[in-house]
Amino acid sequence: IEFQALNMKGKKILIAITGSIAAYKIPQLVRLLIKSGAEVQIIMTPKAKEFVSSLVLGTLSKRAVLIDMFDESTWSNHVMLGRWADVMLVAPASCNTIAKMANGLCDNLVLATYLSATCKVMLAAAMDEDMWHHPTTKNNLQTLRNNNVEIIDAQHGELASGLIGMGRMAEPEELLQEIQKQLNKTQILAGKKFLITAGPTYENLDPVRFIGNYSTGKMGIALANHIASLGAEVHLVLGPTHLSTQANGVTTYNVKSADEMYKQAVGLFSKCTVAILSAAVADYTPKNVATNKIKKADGTLNLELTKTKDILKHLGSIKTQKQILVGFALESTDGKNYALKKLNEKNCNMIVLNSLQDAGAGFAHATNKICIFDNKGAEINFDLKPKETVAQDIIQHLISYAKWK
Ligand code: CTP
Repeated sequence: IEFQALNMKGKKILIAITGSIAAYKIPQLVRLLIKSGAEVQIIMTPKAKEFVSSLVLGTLSKRAVLIDMFDESTWSNHVMLGRWADVMLVAPASCNTIAKMANGLCDNLVLATYLSATCKVMLAAAMDEDMWHHPTTKNNLQTLRNNNVEIIDAQHGELASGLIGMGRMAEPEELLQEIQKQLNKTQILAGKKFLITAGPTYENLDPVRFIGNYSTGKMGIALANHIASLGAEVHLVLGPTHLSTQANGVTTYNVKSADEMYKQAVGLFSKCTVAILSAAVADYTPKNVATNKIKKADGTLNLELTKTKDILKHLGSIKTQKQILVGFALESTDGKNYALKKLNEKNCNMIVLNSLQDAGAGFAHATNKICIFDNKGAEINFDLKPKETVAQDIIQHLISYAKWK
């Protein structure tokens, strides 16, 4: 078949090998993926070890092959593997593994990873012809299709038994093309440009002190990473935080004060289709910044503060019909009313409300609990979830709001 290597830089592919003769084709697939720029992690069932060398696979993939759920001192984190990957491909998928996947069995690392995978899962079947035609196998494959697993059908050809018939696994080049096709499908935001503000702002009082807040930018960075993984170009205007992102497709602009964030965001907005303002911007800044350190004196110290520019409000006033503006609202009381007021007054398409009343939600937490309001009247409440999953919920709503799918 005609083979054209696409650039897969930054794409993360998880390959799960099971016990089948066709496992000999996987080192070649790994070579092709690595040559295309992808990152590859191999996991295997214990039986697969008898069919292909983990030393060869580990060397080609440049990562240690994982086989056991536990060894003496470590635990292979199957949950993180399925979250790390953009695509998980089970290849070759033996009849036995297909049956276990269809029925939710979980007695090895491959199955535990499949059951906890949040990425797209594909499988390339490999077995003898009679097994392939057996109604149980057909039912199992149908169950997996219904569960959103992409099946790369077995093909006609020479089989390990010496017979000629159906059951042969697709060739490495075809597997690569199927993975690339899948990645393209998941690149739903390709060609779109996003502006994201995230993190706190620091307003200087003097050369050594500032007024700031507890935001870490975690929510905005999770949004930037997720949006970039869907193919968009992301411009992240990030306030002072120890967190950062190296994700492909994200350009970070580090800023410090509300005014710097305003200038950077306004400068980028006109070329962006969507702006999501998740930053915790100071509403007030010291009227005068002391050139020298303020010395302690008797009595109280009064600070005079002036209002900062509201970035969200300004972008709402200049946005075109084609642009989508998403704001955040952090409220301690009467969340819904304030969120709807912000949606309206700042001319937003959508407001993501975080309530300070929910335990585990808000600044510096790994989790968040949100409610989305949009200007078409939607109000959707979500459970407390990791910020990475919250980012997926927000973007899923945005995609259906914008009718991109
Ligand atoms: N925001 C902004 N620029 C500011 C202040 C806020 O862009 N100077 C944005 C935030 O990034 C967020 C939204 O406005 O998307 C809401 O911020 P929030 O502080 O909750 O609301 P405010 O409008 O500042 O009102 P209040 O503090 O009175 O609730």
